[in-house]
Amino acid sequence: METSRNRTMADSQNRTGSDELIFFVNGRKIVEKNPDPETTLLTYLRRKLGLTGTKLGCAEGGCGACTVMLSRYQAEPQQLLHYAVNACLAPLCSLHLVAVTTVEGIGSVARKLHPVQERIARSHGSQCGFCTPGIVMSMYALLRNNPTPNMADVEEAFQGNLCRCTGYRPILEGYKTFTVKGGCCGGKGQNGCCMTNGNGAFQGSKDKPEEATSLFNPADFEPYDPTQEVIFPPELMNLSKGQRSSRSLCFHGDRTTWLQPESLDELLLLKWKHPDARLVVGNTEVGIEVKFKNMVYPVVLAPGFIAELNAVTHTEDGVVFGAACTLSHMGAVLKEAVQSLPPHQTQVFQAILEQLRWFAGQQIRNVAAIGGNIMTASPISDLNPVFMVAGCKLTLRDKDGSREVQMDDGFFTGYRKTTVRPQEILLSILIPYSKKCQFVSAFKQSPRREDDISIVTAAMSAIFSPGTDIVKDLRLSYGGMAPVTALAKKTANRLLGRQWGEELLQEACSSLAEEMSLDPSAPGGMVTYRQTLTLSLFYKFYLTVLQKLRLQGLSVQEVSSECLSATEIYHPETPSSVQVYQAVPEGQNQDDMVGCPIMHLSALKQATGEAVYCDDVPLYENELYLALITSTKAHARILSVDVSAAERCPGVVCCLFASDVPGSNVTGVRQDETVFADGQVTCVGHIIGAVVADSQLHAQRAAKAVRIQYEELKPIVTIQEAIAAQSFYEPIRAIQNGDMEAGFKQADHILEGEIHMGGQEHFYLETNVTLAVPREEDGEMELFISSQSPSDSQSFVAKALGVPANRVLVRVKRMGGGFGGKESRTTVLSTVVAVAANRLKRPVRCMLDRDEDMLITGGRHPFYGKYKVGFLQSGKVVALDVSFYSNSGNSMDLSQAIMERALFHMENSYRIPNVRGQGFMCRTNLPSNTAFRGFGGPQGMMVAENWITDVAHSLGRSPEEVRRLNLYLEGESTPYNQILHGLTLDRCWDECLSRSEYEQRRAAADLFNRQNRWTKQGLAIVPTKFGISFTATFLNQAGALVHIYRDGSVLLTHGGTEMGQGLHTKMVQVASRVLGIPCSKVFISETSTNTVANTSPTAASASTDLNGAAVQNACETLLKRLEPFKTKNPKGSWEDWVNAAYFDRVDLSANGFYKTPDLGYDFDTNSGRAFNYYSYGVACSEVEIDCLTGAHKNLRTTIVMDVGHSLNPAIDIGQVEGGFMQGLGLFTLEELHYSPQGVLLTRGPGSYKIPAFGDIPTQLTVSLLRDSPNEKAIFASKAVGEPPLFLAASVFYAIKDAVRAARAESQMMGPFRLDSPASAERIRNACCDQFTKLCPPAEPGTFTPWSVRV
Ligand SMILES: Cc1cc2nc3c(=O)[nH]c(=O)nc-3n(C[C@H](O)[C@H](O)[C@H](O)COP(=O)(O)OP(=O)(O)OC[C@H]3O[C@@H](n4cnc5c(N)ncnc54)[C@H](O)[C@@H]3O)c2cc1C
Ligand code: FES
Ligand code: FES
Repeated sequence: METSRNRTMADSQNRTGSDELIFFVNGRKIVEKNPDPETTLLTYLRRKLGLTGTKLGCAEGGCGACTVMLSRYQAEPQQLLHYAVNACLAPLCSLHLVAVTTVEGIGSVARKLHPVQERIARSHGSQCGFCTPGIVMSMYALLRNNPTPNMADVEEAFQGNLCRCTGYRPILEGYKTFTVKGGCCGGKGQNGCCMTNGNGAFQGSKDKPEEATSLFNPADFEPYDPTQEVIFPPELMNLSKGQRSSRSLCFHGDRTTWLQPESLDELLLLKWKHPDARLVVGNTEVGIEVKFKNMVYPVVLAPGFIAELNAVTHTEDGVVFGAACTLSHMGAVLKEAVQSLPPHQTQVFQAILEQLRWFAGQQIRNVAAIGGNIMTASPISDLNPVFMVAGCKLTLRDKDGSREVQMDDGFFTGYRKTTVRPQEILLSILIPYSKKCQFVSAFKQSPRREDDISIVTAAMSAIFSPGTDIVKDLRLSYGGMAPVTALAKKTANRLLGRQWGEELLQEACSSLAEEMSLDPSAPGGMVTYRQTLTLSLFYKFYLTVLQKLRLQGLSVQEVSSECLSATEIYHPETPSSVQVYQAVPEGQNQDDMVGCPIMHLSALKQATGEAVYCDDVPLYENELYLALITSTKAHARILSVDVSAAERCPGVVCCLFASDVPGSNVTGVRQDETVFADGQVTCVGHIIGAVVADSQLHAQRAAKAVRIQYEELKPIVTIQEAIAAQSFYEPIRAIQNGDMEAGFKQADHILEGEIHMGGQEHFYLETNVTLAVPREEDGEMELFISSQSPSDSQSFVAKALGVPANRVLVRVKRMGGGFGGKESRTTVLSTVVAVAANRLKRPVRCMLDRDEDMLITGGRHPFYGKYKVGFLQSGKVVALDVSFYSNSGNSMDLSQAIMERALFHMENSYRIPNVRGQGFMCRTNLPSNTAFRGFGGPQGMMVAENWITDVAHSLGRSPEEVRRLNLYLEGESTPYNQILHGLTLDRCWDECLSRSEYEQRRAAADLFNRQNRWTKQGLAIVPTKFGISFTATFLNQAGALVHIYRDGSVLLTHGGTEMGQGLHTKMVQVASRVLGIPCSKVFISETSTNTVANTSPTAASASTDLNGAAVQNACETLLKRLEPFKTKNPKGSWEDWVNAAYFDRVDLSANGFYKTPDLGYDFDTNSGRAFNYYSYGVACSEVEIDCLTGAHKNLRTTIVMDVGHSLNPAIDIGQVEGGFMQGLGLFTLEELHYSPQGVLLTRGPGSYKIPAFGDIPTQLTVSLLRDSPNEKAIFASKAVGEPPLFLAASVFYAIKDAVRAARAESQMMGPFRLDSPASAERIRNACCDQFTKLCPPAEPGTFTPWSVRV
């Protein structure tokens, strides 16, 4: 009888059918008869099982939104393994006999919440909620392995998760309650809960009754009981113990066959038969190749369960790891070895652990194999340099035997190539113990510390003749400097036999500069920086070894105390935070939640995965999927489009182009765009057509098969190119005030300068989605869109379809973030999807992949600012002439309003008597840039902070002093003649100074800088003044519709959309106060164009003001109608009055409306009010830079923000922190790279880095100014969405302050240029020293750079 054990793989290949895949999801057994090897776990969960709690954020393992927990029974040693993985990369076929736990499996609002779900919600760690299920599952997996973690464990668990909204602080704060130290007493402390600041939530203390400091009360949390966790399915345990996991399996798909051999011999036989087959363990490399590089692998071998490939053997020479050992497992084994062996033996292990600390996130490390990392042969692999310098040995095998090879420079033969033969596999790697006189270090420099790929990665090993400082053996290995991991052999050989001292250092540096040189056009760019890094990192190694030799008693040169910090290894400190806000006044009605930090009303559902986002809407029965055909050229005429190959692809229904648009193909805010390109393309990513098919996979494959021929035209890509070509959109706006000539005459000094500010990708975790459902009659169409602007979507779709707007219904339940990116650009997708649905009369859906979203939908406008500033010796600025150039892209979109806002903010918070600002919108061949939180304001203010810093530097004064001197005073007037009333800048400034202990910190930083040569600290305090109102006056209106039902429940609808900012929560608070009923009686279902018409986009920070006033208006109308019944029955309940009114035939529905009064600025006359009021804030930040690498640490930030009387301090502080962190990304981290031909090179979290958990300041204080009512907005509150973002400029200028200190060491004084973002590259290049001198940049114009600054 044939058994699964003796059935050979040769048989299974010949079988046409697939084996059964058995696995469990949330305790339920799944038997899948035909799993497709190309299907990921994420697709299966969402599409097949309808488990939409697990989200798709990137499909490349870079955001963690798809995190689930896998559990597996391991026979040797017998144990249950629980580990977090990215479902987007986990092949479905790899799950045989695995238990999958998703966010739905651990708790629900309806059933019972799991404490990890409850705590993230109640601690305000969920705003839009799209990242929340992934974060919940990372925490859950941690607790399953370690029920009493410490904070370092928690932070490590989140290395692979991103959140774009919260700024991370509240998530860490909430989860601190699970840690050993941060754990809560559960309310049993002497004075109530141990975690509330003395006096319970929301109330002030005796000393400061006006101040409250806690946003949640851990005593409210359900206790965590690890014994209550769901058990591993008993049936699965039996199946696993029955050895069925190691049987051979075979799964056939459309294009790929998955073979899981049961033994090494079988694997070798298969590899012999299929030399081109890929071995897939973690699929973190192969998965990316298939998804993004269009690779097809007909045969995939899955060796994950083969014992020899998972074995770990300790030998005399070192530790041998089977090639399929995961990085997490390797880390655990090496950690143990480091603890148990003498330190001199574990130098290599420690270097590997150091690299692993910053290697991807947990989810990747839990599945990615050592063998996968070696065999991928990536030139920026973080482990290969260490393996090379350590002299690791690899055992390779084929069916005829094995051979051993040294992992040296002969191993990698070219870009992603090795000496391993096609029929061979990598069996294992020996990582040797280090020797007594050996020192090993490893370094990784990447744009972001956590979960990022290296710019340069290096490992270095030096062996000395015993008892001497004479170099016996030296190996220096670099990644990121060549197509392969490279050994600096020439340099190393030159230094053999030399003493470890200054001379050696000099020679090493000049030799490395020569040996590790790069072509100025090298892929990856940053050429000067990368070259400098090779020297800087060697210098760090040099100092480290020097120090260690001295510790061994050798008489080598002492490392001077000011150089010591260059040898320190970065270890993050656990962040701490303080929040301060106005306490709720005593005696406020218990039902009145205005001013209370109540939780976002959807937070619990978001934490359980029950909250429904656009793509979570269940599939319609006959639904189709759409994929876009986009331009690969920035500027070209379309010569021909060939769809024949696409139409032959399986599942394809039709292709659509401009001629298929039934209405108008002309679209866009300014009617200067097309639904589909018409003969010409003007950017890479320009939508040319679409393919509709029966599934996403089929549609996307077919779209890639469309062939387009172009006649290329010269593109304009950068601002500088646009200036040269005078390629501007009209009008060129200007604001002028005072007498420029007199102003400059009066000035003691005049200074000119410039700054370039890069753009920014919105990176909302949920990409753009549209689901269009045509109705049977009258050309009606229902659209579910992830849009901040339902009314614009409605009118754009109606125009494209050629129907009146009343036939188009747009519904928005919630968005997974927007930040301005879903204001106008969403329509590029929704019109196309609607056209397809209309044509086919079937529902059509499209959710853009992350790379498409980044490519197509534009982002924040890059700005270039040029200025001339006149100032007195005192530092007082008397004249300013500033020009702004924005890279607007290939259409106008919102560029004019954005430029106008930049002009309105050109003086930031400073009174300048004579001023002129001009704004030029550059027409370029980039995708149209668009609204982004701050809307031009941050760009305008950034230029202001630059000139004020220049003024201070040129006078040799502190920028703080010059800023304070120029700060606006009450009653002063802006350049556009708006008088400032109710100014709170000075209060914010003073409180910020005192809370940040500015004077002490400044003195401490100065002292630190005197004591350290290679690390410098910097401080900056920066104000902001942000004008509130849409600058397009007509948009300053809002509507609301309120129904009271007979049971007393209230259905509230208003014109704003919920994208995580808590707008619906605030609107419920407003309605609840006005109606005098608890929030629980008020419900908001969605935003829709058939309830409130002609809505303005949810934007400009004004939605609470506008919609809040409209809600108030509607509720007051209803209240008036109920008044007689209340008077008649004063002791009655709300329900009594409602019922009585109903029976008296009173209308219990009411509309509300609001328009902001007295607005209307006129550029021609420089008169009229531009803004209703201003939000003010001040932030002080402190940083530390590593002058050798350009890395920086965010040490402290103190923010004081005036948000009037906060409607909800938890939400407002969430906006302050989230906005600040987004600004921190803008000013210090996020970089979009474009090729000189206008191709976006950064299209996902792998290459575009938003701030991660590790980027938050170690100490973060946020204080909402108390006692600061604002008479201009609802219940004395103020707008908060955008204003805090700019405060992150304090981090930029703190960095600049630190760079200034570094430059002073090289006697470089006075103003200097630092463009934004202050990336590690820019910081390092600005810290000129002996190393940078050895790596001069190539002459511009003599080469074609890899990327250009747009
Ligand atoms: C989000 C993310 C972050 C990352 N961060 C980093 C990082 O910080 N540093 C870094 O260095 N890398 C990083 N990587 C790259 C990647 O994780 C590693 O290269 C990983 O170790 C690959 O292992 P795997 O098991 O997933 O490989 P797989 O994708 O399963 O396989 C990769 C390749 O190796 C071959 N292969 C695997 N095992 C064998 C074997 N035994 N014999 C022969 N061939 C074999 C396969 O055929 C395939 O071609 C990252 C990747 C992602 C997706
Ligand atoms: S969707 Fe899987 S990590 Fe982003
Ligand atoms: S709440 Fe984290 S991405 Fe929105």
